[in-house]
Amino acid sequence: MSIKSIFVPGDKSISHRVLILSAIADRPTVIRNLNRGEDVGSTIKVLRGLGARIEQKRDFVLVTPRPFSKPKSVLDCGNSGTTMRLMAGLLASSQFPSELSGDRSLLARPMERVVIPINKMGGRIQCSQDGNGPIKILPALVPLKAIDYKIPVPSAQVKGAILLAGLGADGKTTVTEKIATRNHTELWLRSFGVGVEVCGLKVSLNGGVRLKSPGEVTVPGDPTAAAYLAIAALITRAGSIKIENVALNPGRIRWVEILRGMGADIDLELIASGVEDIGNIVIHNFNKGLKPVEINAHLIPDLIDEIPALAVLMARVEGTSIVRGAMELRVKESDRVKVIYEGFRRLGIDIDMFDDGFSIKGGGNILLRGGRVNSYGDHRMAMAFGLCNLMSDRSIYINGKNSVVISFPGFFRELNRPKNWIDT
Ligand code: S3P
Repeated sequence: MSIKSIFVPGDKSISHRVLILSAIADRPTVIRNLNRGEDVGSTIKVLRGLGARIEQKRDFVLVTPRPFSKPKSVLDCGNSGTTMRLMAGLLASSQFPSELSGDRSLLARPMERVVIPINKMGGRIQCSQDGNGPIKILPALVPLKAIDYKIPVPSAQVKGAILLAGLGADGKTTVTEKIATRNHTELWLRSFGVGVEVCGLKVSLNGGVRLKSPGEVTVPGDPTAAAYLAIAALITRAGSIKIENVALNPGRIRWVEILRGMGADIDLELIASGVEDIGNIVIHNFNKGLKPVEINAHLIPDLIDEIPALAVLMARVEGTSIVRGAMELRVKESDRVKVIYEGFRRLGIDIDMFDDGFSIKGGGNILLRGGRVNSYGDHRMAMAFGLCNLMSDRSIYINGKNSVVISFPGFFRELNRPKNWIDT
């Protein structure tokens, strides 16, 4: 039996960071395999609004840094929390005013988590009274002061925002996390020549360093996108698939451990070690039943983007699976706890909801009802409901299905490609 090869888009988190760092570096950067979704498009738009030159060619993107200048209009971050939070940190030390705004979903998400630490550094940034965007940034009166800050919520975006603000601060900025979050900001700052120190949960850097472009960067495949396709393979049980050239960053492939713990047979093949490890994820043909799983608070940061997909698989497994400690899921592009609960109930899945998660009583051969579910325009929920379709012989209509363009524009093309999911 053959192993089918599948490719996923460039990683979204890495794409944002590489673009931003390229725009403030000492010379142009060629970026290959940049994620072509709308969120990364928002970062491109914002950087262009500040004066950076970004040319999108067929096979690469060329970023030519130019000193940032006062934008002519509000900087539109679209649906992208990463764009808004990272740029708030970067712009806090600028000498001109600016405003970061976005769509309805983004303007409902918590921004105080970046505003508070950045203002402690002497920044002059404001969010709305209820702690949401838009974020207004006033020119810094004096250089920002470095801080030593304990981040109260596990968030790689908050960590990244403070580190980017730290680039424009006097002295050594230190952030300490309660639970480690994805470390792409640290890794990619280093590859642009910034001496980032990491000691356990503490990350520090010195301000005032000029970034040195590595000249060329290739963004590895997105492990979150890979998780959704791996779960499609486990649901359809239709042969082995190999997802190629994926970032094997340990903080991004925790889902592989979870699936293995449930009984799946998955191999990782390391291809290269660079700024990020890159390799293939092989999901072996599978006909055994899987076991239920319990996911608690300490695992949530590493699984935050994959929980909607894991929830679908939980419905497919005999027994009760539980997710707790996942309050952060409620402040994503949608309230994902509520959207999973509402959609799953409609499809006939036995699910209970808690403040901080849910439990699902699954069945090994469950057949879902058809009908209409609402993704509320949340790309990861649209993808998760797409996976539900693989467990039904009726049609499931997904409101807001096109939101997959945010991170994985070809997701439904890949899901509807029978060769991937039919035993050959
Ligand atoms: C991201 C961090 C996570 C994640 C998001 C991307 C990043 O968000 O959910 O999809 O690129 O830093 P939080 O920092 O809010 O946890």
